[in-house]
Amino acid sequence: MCGVIGYIGPRNATPILIEGLRALEYRGYDSAGVFVAGRGALKRSGKVSELADAIPEDFTGTCGIAHTRWATHGAPTETNAHPHCDPTGTVWIIHNGIIENYADIKAALEKDGVIFKSETDTEVLAALIGKKYTEGVLLEDAVCGALKEVRGTYGLAAASVREPEKLVAARLSSPVMLGIGKDEYYIASDASAILKHTRDVIYLEDGEVATLTREGYEISTLSRTPLDKKVETLEWDVESAQKKGYDHFMMKEMMEIPETIENTLRGRLLPKEGDVKLGGLRDVLPQIRSAKRIMITACGSASYAGRVGELLLEEFAGIPVEVELGSELRYRRHTMDPKETVLLAISQSGETLDTIEAIREAKRHGVLTLGVVNVVGSSIARETTAGVYNHAGPEISVASTKAVISQMTVLALISILLGRQNGLSSTDGEHLVSELQKLPDLARTILSRRESIQAIAKKYAKVQNAFFLGRKFQCPIAYEGAIKLKEIAYIHAEGYAAGEMKHGPIALIEPSFLSVVLVPDDSMYEKSKSNIQEIRARGGTVIAITTDGKEDDLKGLADDVISVPNVHEALLPILTTIPVQLFAYYVALERGLNIDMPRNLAKSVTVE
Ligand code: G6P
Repeated sequence: MCGVIGYIGPRNATPILIEGLRALEYRGYDSAGVFVAGRGALKRSGKVSELADAIPEDFTGTCGIAHTRWATHGAPTETNAHPHCDPTGTVWIIHNGIIENYADIKAALEKDGVIFKSETDTEVLAALIGKKYTEGVLLEDAVCGALKEVRGTYGLAAASVREPEKLVAARLSSPVMLGIGKDEYYIASDASAILKHTRDVIYLEDGEVATLTREGYEISTLSRTPLDKKVETLEWDVESAQKKGYDHFMMKEMMEIPETIENTLRGRLLPKEGDVKLGGLRDVLPQIRSAKRIMITACGSASYAGRVGELLLEEFAGIPVEVELGSELRYRRHTMDPKETVLLAISQSGETLDTIEAIREAKRHGVLTLGVVNVVGSSIARETTAGVYNHAGPEISVASTKAVISQMTVLALISILLGRQNGLSSTDGEHLVSELQKLPDLARTILSRRESIQAIAKKYAKVQNAFFLGRKFQCPIAYEGAIKLKEIAYIHAEGYAAGEMKHGPIALIEPSFLSVVLVPDDSMYEKSKSNIQEIRARGGTVIAITTDGKEDDLKGLADDVISVPNVHEALLPILTTIPVQLFAYYVALERGLNIDMPRNLAKSVTVE
């Protein structure tokens, strides 16, 4: 979603800001804008390239802010794009998040004679800051004064015509980091915007404000109590956040799946003991072990990884698990007993607001919260008590691929760890660990067969409806296959537990309706095969995704067969996810769509 970048230093800010916006494009946006002290603001609806093309040569300066906007209040027009200013054009701000009480503030300001140009909550905030920014008041004090009156969320950067060598940043529930360069400083909502310049960062916490000048930076609370914050080093490098010759980040990231699994497993397996070690959980292990219930919370594809986790944890650790979407859990009547329940949140970005709020709700009830997170230092990583990092590297494509695979891999590790404490035998542990070790190579084999998946995808690229069906361990992968086809290929697709077909969905089956059935050689094979027969009997079209050795058995039955190598059935979801993701990719490619940035979607969903 929206992206924030700010720069102050000796260099020309404009190209740094535009480059920063380009690095933030992947998050999803619909308009962009820039303010450079001494030059003013420029905005465009549409792509960053349109903004870049509109910038005159003399639009230079050493201090500025820039933004990509994902519309919430008001259409994605040039007028609604950020930066926004106060009525006098003195204070300019860019803002991620939502000001919930903006209507009240707006009404009060309008009574004072303020006329608003845009429909945004951000312009209201700019006007409020402007009102506090009377003569002699410093920008940072005006920002703090205004923010004290605001309800909602913000990742904010402000600049001023009156103090052209200063930037102010503030955070509440929307990420903001400072980048510390050599005699230059950055503000960013996401590390990818500044990775090229520095890996030294300071993460702002909620309620913190930073003032940046050419001489350095100061951080304080909203009440202006000074804070001493640690400079941290980003793990990722520029290289890993680039396309490396692939046409799309999504393909590059799928091709990284084998390496991702290796990175997720590295240093965590104890093959001889048939066990696993996870340093991030060590201190809370006794508490997790004694839990009577684990609640998993996540959104989107991460929630499907969570459903795989549910099956794995119940199967190996014998602990009852419930998966609840962040957007539902946070509003439910809570039944979480802190003595009995542990909350496990799964999030690639670590910034999904609904997941964060679910964690906060659990914390309010004293529940131990754990995170399975990819972005080091992200909000969820910091707000949970303990957790496990994915080590999947940066994921840029809006549709999550390698991160989902690594989430399932981490959940398999946690299940073995808890399982071994809860009675899983060493022989079973050894077998699972050795099966986990096979996964990177097996994933390589699947990727080497991608052309055959592309050929099948070409054949079905024009379908308008599809079911993805699976049972037990494959049921969440049916959900994943359907969401992928929806989000990047814009095809109506539904993921179903295959057994539910006969309770309604089967009424839709006719020849042009595609069903992708996950039917590997596992304990559900015969049952899932029967589902294919039922669909065929009603004239439906079927792609079967199976395991090597079963192709011949299914060839006569399904229209097309995709096969993956075999592994322990509980780990098979990690492999069958790859063909469903590849299938969606190739269908979208065939349909000529914007794969990395699908319409209306955002990578990191930081609004409710
Ligand atoms: C968005 C992305 C999905 C992702 C979901 C959860 O909807 O498009 O690919 O699965 O957010 O994101 P998270 O960062 O919390 O894993």
